[in-house]
Amino acid sequence: MKIIDPHSFADLEQGQITHIDFVMDVDFSSRSLRGEAQYRLDRPAHDSFFLDTRSLGLERVHAGEHDLKWELDRSDPILGQRLHLKGLDGVSSFSIEFTSGAQASALQWLAPEQTAGGRHPFLFSQCQSIHARSIFPCQDTPSVRFTYTARLQVPEPLVAVMAAAPAEAGSGAATTWYSFSMPQAIPAYLFGLAVGNIAWQDVGPRCRVYAEPEVLEAAAWEFADTEQRLKEAEKLFGPYVWDRYDLLVMPPAFPFGGMENPRLTFLTPTLLVGDRSRTNLVSHELAHSWTGNLVTNATWEDFWLNEGWTTYAQMRIDEALEGRDRAQLSAAIERERMLENMRLFGMDSDPTRLKYSMQGVDPDAVFSNIPYQKGYAFLVLLEQSVGRQAFDQFIKKYITTYRFQSLTTEGFVAFLERELPRTGDQVDIQEWLYGTGFPDSAPAIRSTLLDDAVGRIQAYQTGKRPTGQEVANWRPGQIHLFLRMLPEQIPVDDCRYFESLFGFKESRDFDLLSAFYTIAIRSGYQDVFSNVEELVGRVGRGLYLKPLYRSMVQTEWARPLARPLFERCRSGYHSITAVAIEQILAGAGV
Ligand code: BES
Ligand code: ZN
Repeated sequence: MKIIDPHSFADLEQGQITHIDFVMDVDFSSRSLRGEAQYRLDRPAHDSFFLDTRSLGLERVHAGEHDLKWELDRSDPILGQRLHLKGLDGVSSFSIEFTSGAQASALQWLAPEQTAGGRHPFLFSQCQSIHARSIFPCQDTPSVRFTYTARLQVPEPLVAVMAAAPAEAGSGAATTWYSFSMPQAIPAYLFGLAVGNIAWQDVGPRCRVYAEPEVLEAAAWEFADTEQRLKEAEKLFGPYVWDRYDLLVMPPAFPFGGMENPRLTFLTPTLLVGDRSRTNLVSHELAHSWTGNLVTNATWEDFWLNEGWTTYAQMRIDEALEGRDRAQLSAAIERERMLENMRLFGMDSDPTRLKYSMQGVDPDAVFSNIPYQKGYAFLVLLEQSVGRQAFDQFIKKYITTYRFQSLTTEGFVAFLERELPRTGDQVDIQEWLYGTGFPDSAPAIRSTLLDDAVGRIQAYQTGKRPTGQEVANWRPGQIHLFLRMLPEQIPVDDCRYFESLFGFKESRDFDLLSAFYTIAIRSGYQDVFSNVEELVGRVGRGLYLKPLYRSMVQTEWARPLARPLFERCRSGYHSITAVAIEQILAGAGV
């Protein structure tokens, strides 16, 4: 099946990159990454070869000693610029000298004050979905995979890590170089690097936690059970093929909860709550080692194959580790969030479909948990239609059949119809994949923990606030769900009551705080504003910031405060987050 990726200029008929050797120099003073990449192709290229780039400086393209002709000949606001190598005479290897500057959308350069330690700058990459092209020229489509080596030169005393196997390191004049090799072929969106004051601690034979020294101990404690998680995942999906599974805890500006960079998952430090209650996020990123990193969505139109499958896989891991009741509680929260996202986009809008044409659509602009949760619900239905045993065999066969390959939704359906031919009688596959909204046939989410929280909401609606005793043993997830199910606005006195009931004044749990402040803002509980200012000035995770800004612009008293607050915090936000918040403010006319 020929794959057409609307988010890349690459033409796979010209050949495919199979390997890259990078040499890169990291310069914090100019916030630039200067380097040379030597590419190997799967076959000799003739005449033209197209690569994706975005805001890159290009110095020279050559094959051995002789220079190649090149031109940036097409430009698109979403895709970036097409680098056109010209007059190729059968070369299957060439080199490009490039500079990725301060504007690179994949890189965030942090000032020392934005780190936990406060003394050293920090750099990290976030390439998904189409940002790798702002670091180096590439065929930036998830349907092309390459292996690589890299040598990074960084200023002393900083440490470089990559989503690859560390090789040697050595020192030069006031710099240190680190080399890496990535023996497993990856699509460009899984390229990852970070540079900073980074220390590490082993938490298992295959698992190490990297973090700034100031948070390392807390991080190693929080993620101590990673090896066990890995073993559970292997039972479900087969052997882990990436050798090591390490974690890197980022400074608070990191825009996501986690990013499944192979061998080295990147994580937000907001998971460090001290009770291991957020480690299901690690299950999610770990599960991508099979669903996403091994079997990869062919284009970003097939994103649900990565995230829906991974959400399903995460639930299975968490069910095994913490029991179904708890795992389903987080599924309930995410489903609520999904329905909210569907309402925001419109119940009949394209982003509520698992697959639709994304020509002219920026993947960042439509990112939400809809493909996660709708995809998850669809897979649970498939599981229920054939039974868990048969579905478990199907999962293993799915992974072994498509490992290190990219798959479209249509390719998946063909596989499903071949392997589990009767599912189509019971599940309306077309409706689930291509229809809008959330089908009535969705499987219900059941959990006694959920029932308890729902019971307290029902009581609240009849005027009875929960007592300290009633919520004494609540899991954070129950508190979150309770807050989420409250009416849009509640009396200020109730805000104050919940603030003290759940100990929010002392809490460091940004997940709960974001949910609470959101409702507090809408309810006119103005006392929280200084806390909101502190949170949005410290944390860069979009999932927490977006609802806060959204509630501000919806509320009369907070509306005039939103833009100035954003302008104060903006320089600390990742560009993905800044763009998303700008969209919320501009969309509301603020
Ligand atoms: N791969 C995603 C993050 C992502 C998706 C980055 C699309 C850029 C574009 C990662 O696996 C993820 O889903 N992270 C979630 C956590 C998860 C438990 C829902 C997040 O960051 O919140
Ligand atoms: Zn994911």
